[in-house]
Amino acid sequence: MKVAVTGAAGQIGYSLLFRLASGSLLGPDRPIELRLLEIEPALKALEGVVMELDDCAFPGLAGVEIGSDPEKIFDGVNLALLVGARPRGPGMERGDLLEANGAIFTAQGKALNSVAADDIRIGVTGNPANTNALIAMSNAPDIPQERFSALTRLDHNRAISQLARKTGAPVTDVKHMTIWGNHSATQYPDVFHAEVGGRNAAEVVDDQSWIENDFIPTVAKRGAAIIEARGSSSAASAASATIDAARDWLLGSATDDWVSMAVVSDGSYDVPEGLISSFPVTTSAGDWTIVQGLDIDDFSRVRIDASTAELAEERDAVRELGLI
Ligand code: NAI
Repeated sequence: MKVAVTGAAGQIGYSLLFRLASGSLLGPDRPIELRLLEIEPALKALEGVVMELDDCAFPGLAGVEIGSDPEKIFDGVNLALLVGARPRGPGMERGDLLEANGAIFTAQGKALNSVAADDIRIGVTGNPANTNALIAMSNAPDIPQERFSALTRLDHNRAISQLARKTGAPVTDVKHMTIWGNHSATQYPDVFHAEVGGRNAAEVVDDQSWIENDFIPTVAKRGAAIIEARGSSSAASAASATIDAARDWLLGSATDDWVSMAVVSDGSYDVPEGLISSFPVTTSAGDWTIVQGLDIDDFSRVRIDASTAELAEERDAVRELGLI
């Protein structure tokens, strides 16, 4: 399998590449070839990372290619993990950020459209992830829309971990967690459909104030808390979630559980069609299906609507910029 990673010389890349090469994605017996994309000034640093990959002598790493031309790096790839993005610099307005990332994801969408393998799957980690995925998807008309996703698995994993800690249960006992909406502070981590040890999580917790005032903001603002504590944004956990999401997508989610993935909306749960929004999904052999039939009460409705309204605003902004 040929796996492309963009932004490969960045922080997330430094964790992600070694996990991919050691077999965390498909298991140690299925070799992968890495195709690493960076901007020209970062290629030297990337060469150093490749030297370290060499030095690990990973048996499952069938080859590494690096470069700054997406048409060359994406040629024949089966999985593209789009991690590289333009961070918000000093004095940069939101519109500037969308425009800078728009240029990156327009070019990468077009390149994937023309050279990726027929079975390509694309996962976007680089922020603003949902809208970057929308831009790439809109610029790749020959790739089926359901092959694009944006990462909300880190939020999902954070939510599982917080709930496990609150209830004293192991993380493996927490099932059916859902992140709805945007990978941003408006996201809605939903415990009302989650279970702890087979029981409804909200009932087990039995503490509405904790759900509202502690759990939801802690999960939604965890990225900022990590920046505050570490001095830079979450990287190892983001890499780990990027792999969790890709592995479940390609190999299938557990039969007694679902995962959160931002995928193109078909209008389910009244999320406007065409937005890339996070849903509960089950996955199997490279396909995903939105879990249907969950009851959405008023508490959840307001929060899902707020986050999808933000996604619609981002979509309108990039539409105005002519990016989609
Ligand atoms: P970083 O700044 O350390 O690395 C980003 C890398 O992308 C840099 O090496 C840069 O040269 C490269 N890059 C920029 N433009 C590129 C282009 N056109 N083609 C290829 N490479 C390009 O950032 P870090 O910490 O690795 O994070 C990467 C992205 O992931 C950021 O946008 C960050 O906000 C996002 N992120 C997303 C999370 C999620 O849950 N969805 C969680 C944490 C981070």
